[in-house]
Amino acid sequence: MKRQSIVAANWKMNGSFGLVTEMSQGLASLKLANDVTVVVCPSTPFLTALSDAFEHENMSEHVSVGAQNVSEFEKGAYTGEVSTSMLQACKVQYVILGHSERRAIFNETSTQVAHKVKAALDAGLIPILCVGESEAERAAVQTETVLASQLQPVIDEVGIERFSHIVIAYEPVWAIGTGKTASPAMAQETHEFIRSFLAKSDEKIAAKTSILYGGSVNAKNCEELFAQADIDGGLIGGASLKVDEFSVICLAAKGTQ
Ligand code: 13P
Repeated sequence: MKRQSIVAANWKMNGSFGLVTEMSQGLASLKLANDVTVVVCPSTPFLTALSDAFEHENMSEHVSVGAQNVSEFEKGAYTGEVSTSMLQACKVQYVILGHSERRAIFNETSTQVAHKVKAALDAGLIPILCVGESEAERAAVQTETVLASQLQPVIDEVGIERFSHIVIAYEPVWAIGTGKTASPAMAQETHEFIRSFLAKSDEKIAAKTSILYGGSVNAKNCEELFAQADIDGGLIGGASLKVDEFSVICLAAKGTQ
């Protein structure tokens, strides 16, 4: 089954115009495998500069720009929010939604995340939908219940068919920014669960959905993680701020399978 391999950079609230230039030049020189897409998701003020830099380097075939969040509302009195059409004006194609930091720090619920996924899809953006359990939830053998509770509201809101335009990122909360990566076998087992959960609604869609792993991915562990059957790439935090290390991770992504 052919699935798109994706390596996405989540800069979180880091980065600068200098990094935009450095990253676009660094990525321009990479020879990516077939069917590998790199998505770089900086903070909102850098989106246009990054899109322009990728365009300038003629990289749009393999490299895209993503945002880290979007409003579920179209427009109006929502101070501080950014709409889907504003992202499109910045030539954004992807948007990270439901990141655990948004769920934990900004109290986003799975219902709100589902509304955001719908708004993004309706605007033609590709959501990178993040799901993942905390350390306590894993210890309590609640991982599958938690993942199901994060996925089901999105299935209910947009319908399983639209998952053909959604990328899922499995990010165990305990592995984010901690240096504690899930072992490749543990990550594979959870990815397999996510795929089987989607398959309960539609087997064909489940087989085609790209599921990325995120959580302390680095140049050393990426190859073994990406070699797992149900891991279709990664969502990279800290290591995506270093051009050389991120380049190694992009090159480790397997192409057509
Ligand atoms: P780290 O790679 O820094 O652990 O972050 C992962 C992440 O949250 C990506 O969205």
